[in-house]
Amino acid sequence: MPARLGRLRLSGPLAGAFVLVLAPAGAFGPWFLAVKGAPAASLSPLGPPAATDLQESLQRFRPIVSGGGLVAAQDARAAAVGATILRQGGNAVDAAVATCFALAVTLPQAGNLGGGGFLVLWLPRSAAQPLQAPAMPIGIGQAVALNFRETAPLAVRPELFLQADGSVDRVKATRSLLSTGVPGTVAGLTLVQARYGRLPLKAVMAPAIQLAERGFPVGVELAASLASAAPLLQADPSSRRLFFKAGGVPYRPGEILRQGDLARSLRRIAEQGAPGFYGGPVARALEGLMVQRGGLIRSADLAAYRARWQAPLQGRFRRYQVVTMPPPSGGGITLLQLLNVLEPLKLEATGANSAATIHRLVEAMNLAYRDRNRLLGDPDQVAMPLEQLQSSAYADLQRSRLDLNRHRPAAQLEADPTALGGGSHTTHVSVADRQGGLVAVTTTLNGAYGNGISVPGAGFLLNNELDDFSLKPGSANGYGLVQGAVNAIAPGRRPLSSMTPTLVFRPSGEPLLATGSPGGSRIITTVLQVLLNRLVFGLNLASSVAAPRIHSQLWPDQISVEEGLSPDTRRLLEQMGHKLVAVPAMGSANSVEVVPRKSPAAGPRAGSATTLTGGSLGVADPRRRDAAALPE
Ligand code: DON
Repeated sequence: MPARLGRLRLSGPLAGAFVLVLAPAGAFGPWFLAVKGAPAASLSPLGPPAATDLQESLQRFRPIVSGGGLVAAQDARAAAVGATILRQGGNAVDAAVATCFALAVTLPQAGNLGGGGFLVLWLPRSAAQPLQAPAMPIGIGQAVALNFRETAPLAVRPELFLQADGSVDRVKATRSLLSTGVPGTVAGLTLVQARYGRLPLKAVMAPAIQLAERGFPVGVELAASLASAAPLLQADPSSRRLFFKAGGVPYRPGEILRQGDLARSLRRIAEQGAPGFYGGPVARALEGLMVQRGGLIRSADLAAYRARWQAPLQGRFRRYQVVTMPPPSGGGITLLQLLNVLEPLKLEATGANSAATIHRLVEAMNLAYRDRNRLLGDPDQVAMPLEQLQSSAYADLQRSRLDLNRHRPAAQLEADPTALGGGSHTTHVSVADRQGGLVAVTTTLNGAYGNGISVPGAGFLLNNELDDFSLKPGSANGYGLVQGAVNAIAPGRRPLSSMTPTLVFRPSGEPLLATGSPGGSRIITTVLQVLLNRLVFGLNLASSVAAPRIHSQLWPDQISVEEGLSPDTRRLLEQMGHKLVAVPAMGSANSVEVVPRKSPAAGPRAGSATTLTGGSLGVADPRRRDAAALPE
């Protein structure tokens, strides 16, 4: 049965099943709505006017449209929190921080207080503070990166993770308190909000506190995820109590999950800022757990933790400016290397997801991951040839090594084959505000629910991020990444990451889009394909995110492919020497785009009823059931 809401009509499976949000009438008109990544065919034609400058009529997927700002996140309730904050006058930073704190409540498998992450932002200078180093000017605004990656505790020693035979103890590396890095999320979110947000921290955190305190109905995806993580979570008494009903019974969809301990921790942070987490009762509870159960983090580690401002990495791709995360994420530099190698290859001629294009991507990916794994680490502690890696001379050299007709086996490039681990338990939020401000923020516990261990009385899970180090150089981590000594574990060091929060600017310097993804080692290739789809293949944002993805990382020597490639494409790739492996859907690239106020491309119809000018577009990756892009 179709459902009606004002002028809008929903039909088919969407009727009644999704949140509809109408923006208040005003400067931008009353016609904006949000439905999770839904194809336009499910909406009546009474929706927003067609955006002729955005190629809408040629595409099978439609982004959500807003006359103001927009939040795209992996959980609809958390996205709604961000959208509310925008409506209350918050900027993109306020909304991103509010969404991340809400994700710590509603998406416990990845949203977190006990993990870490990276953030890249751009704000118009009029709306932000004056340029503060290391922020860099771009167009009328400034961009800056924030590193709130976890650090190895001061007492860490590599031997702690090894078995008697010298191999890495995978349980210690991923399921023990030893695997936990000093959490960075609270330091990062509160720091960026204090410097660049507009609203008081208390206002920004109030919705998350309410979600934790009053509870929320468990969604289908969370219920399934908790049930499948029962062996991990029920091994820990605190996690069992927090995430299961009495007797360890899993929550069914629709049942209310309340998190009183988490609400108290969140309230402490809202009132005191970062000291509410890194000192006082929360820090004491964390240290107490570590002492009691053989973990390494002590109050001195917590007190010493600092999030770090960094200058973002900048690159050019076809006149667009790409602004992304520097090390200790390997994501940004690897992405820029790939874009540099691919730029002159005329991929539009070979076409999206053709065998010829996929072959070029894969061969370039293998070379780039080879560098990532051997050369990158924490810039505070190791030297890296970043300039060389980003140079056009190096891109030319790498390009000259591509055989356009034949796959070069990984063994010819490097030894040490290994298996690729699974995982999709990080989360990415993209926000646009009505001034064109953009935030891309990716946070993680590493594995789903981290190491599964919660801090008693404080209500949050701990990360197992130290597995991102090369605990034994040359042996694979949980994502099958075989990394070198440059990323060895050491006290105070931050493990190399693949997280790739990324912004793109138009040739004019105006903001274009924000994107990023979870997916472990597959994050970088996911972001690459979203950008190529949008900037090269002419797809709109929604189609760019929905398109089938592939991934290769040198080892294992194979292409991971999502469903959606034709049998003859696969056959052609096999004939070029590739091995293809079908894998579960990769990534969750929730993305937003800023619509220019005056679009030259729109020509004489700019500002007419059929052309969108100003505002923003957003898309929740359709690969996650509970994700949403919601307008303010
Ligand atoms: O920082 C990294 O690269 C990993 N810890 C990210 C983990 C991740 O994306 C898990 N989800 N697939």
